[in-house]
Amino acid sequence: MALLDVKNLTLEIDTANGWINVLDKVSFSINNKEIRALVGESGSGKSLVVKAIVGALPERWRIKADRMMWQGEDLLNMRQDKRRKITREQIAVVYQNPATSLDPSATLGDQIMEAVSSKLLSRGWFWQKQQQREKIAITHLHKVGIRDHKTCMDSYPHQLSDDVCQKFMIALALVSQPKLLIADDPTMAMVPSTKIQILKLFKHLNQTRGLSILFVSHDLLSIFSMADSLTVLYCGQTVETGKMDKILKRPLHPYTQALLDSAPSFSKGLERKTDLPTLEGTIPPLQHLPIGCRLGPRCPRAQKDCVKTPEERRIHEHFYRCHFPIHRPTK
Ligand SMILES: Nc1ncnc2c1ncn2[C@@H]1O[C@H](COP(=O)(O)OP(=O)(O)OP(=O)(O)O)[C@@H](O)[C@H]1O
Ligand code: SF4
Ligand SMILES: [Mg+2]
Repeated sequence: MALLDVKNLTLEIDTANGWINVLDKVSFSINNKEIRALVGESGSGKSLVVKAIVGALPERWRIKADRMMWQGEDLLNMRQDKRRKITREQIAVVYQNPATSLDPSATLGDQIMEAVSSKLLSRGWFWQKQQQREKIAITHLHKVGIRDHKTCMDSYPHQLSDDVCQKFMIALALVSQPKLLIADDPTMAMVPSTKIQILKLFKHLNQTRGLSILFVSHDLLSIFSMADSLTVLYCGQTVETGKMDKILKRPLHPYTQALLDSAPSFSKGLERKTDLPTLEGTIPPLQHLPIGCRLGPRCPRAQKDCVKTPEERRIHEHFYRCHFPIHRPTK
C-alpha cells in the first residue's frame, strides 16, 4: 500500500474573475522510503498540491479527489482532529516561504522545542525532558548547518535571514520524526555548499531512517541525483509521472523532454554560454487556458487532434497525457 496516494485531485479557487480551476486531475503516489520529485514551471500548481495534502488551503476553496489516501485512510473525508493529528505527527512540511510560515510571536527555540517528537524522549521528570528537547533541537540545528544555535533559538522569525529561516524550517520538520517530509523548494535561498549539505542530509535520512520525501524543486540537477520517481506538472495538470530512470531514458511527454533539455547535463553538444533550449512562450494564465491540450500553443509536436483534451494513459507504472508521445510507449 502506498504511503500517500492522490488520484484526480481537483481544486477550484475564487478570484476577482470568478472560480478558477487551478488543479485539474493531479495524480501521483509516494511509497514507503521513496523520494518523489514534483517539478514544473513557476505557477504550475506545485505549492497548491503541497497545501492540499496537508489541508492548509482556505476552507471556502473547492477541493475534490477520487482519493487522497494516507496509509489507506481518506484524508478528505476524515474528522478534522484526526487529520490534524496525522499532519502533525507523520507528515512534516518545509514551506516555500519559511519566514511567513513560522509563528511570528514565538522564538525559534520555543517553536523547535515544542515540535520535538516524544518518540525521541526517554522517561524522566518534566525538566529532564526539557533538557532532552533542547539537546535534540540543537543537534538538528547543527545538522542543517546552523552553527550559532543560541542566536537562532533566541530569535523571532523576522530577526533572521531567509536562508537561516529555511534551514531552521528543515530542522523543525525533522525533529518531529515524520514518515513523510514534504519539502517545497527547500534549498531556494541557500548558497551551493549549504544546498549540497541539505540534499546529502535528506538522502541520508531516506537511506538510514526510511524517510519518504516529496521533493518540490526547480533545481533539476538536484532532483535527478536524489529522486526515485518524478511527477511533472504543467498548468495544474500532471502530464507525466513514473520512475526517474525510465523517464530519463524515454520521456513520453514533450513538456518533460523540454525540461530535460533545459538541464545542463542533459543538453549534449551545446557550446559554452549557449542559451539552454526551452519551449517558446510562457505558461498561460489559468483564466485563459487553451482549448484541448494545455501545452498546445507551445508544443513542437502539436497537431489538429490536440484540440481534444488528452486523457491520462498508463503503461505499467508510467503515466502520461499526450496524443502524440515522443517515444512509442513500450508495453
Ligand atoms: N491564494 C491564491 N489566490 C489566487 N491565486 C492563487 C493563490 N495561490 C496560488 N494561486 C495561483 O495558482 C497557480 C499555482 O500557484 P502555485 O503557487 O501552486 O505555483 P507553483 O508551481 O508553486 O509556482 P512556484 O514554482 O513559483 O512556486 C498560480 O497561477 C497562482 O497565481
Ligand atoms: S497532446 Fe499534442 S499539444 Fe499536447 S503535448 Fe501531446 S503533442 Fe503536444
Ligand atoms: Mg511554489
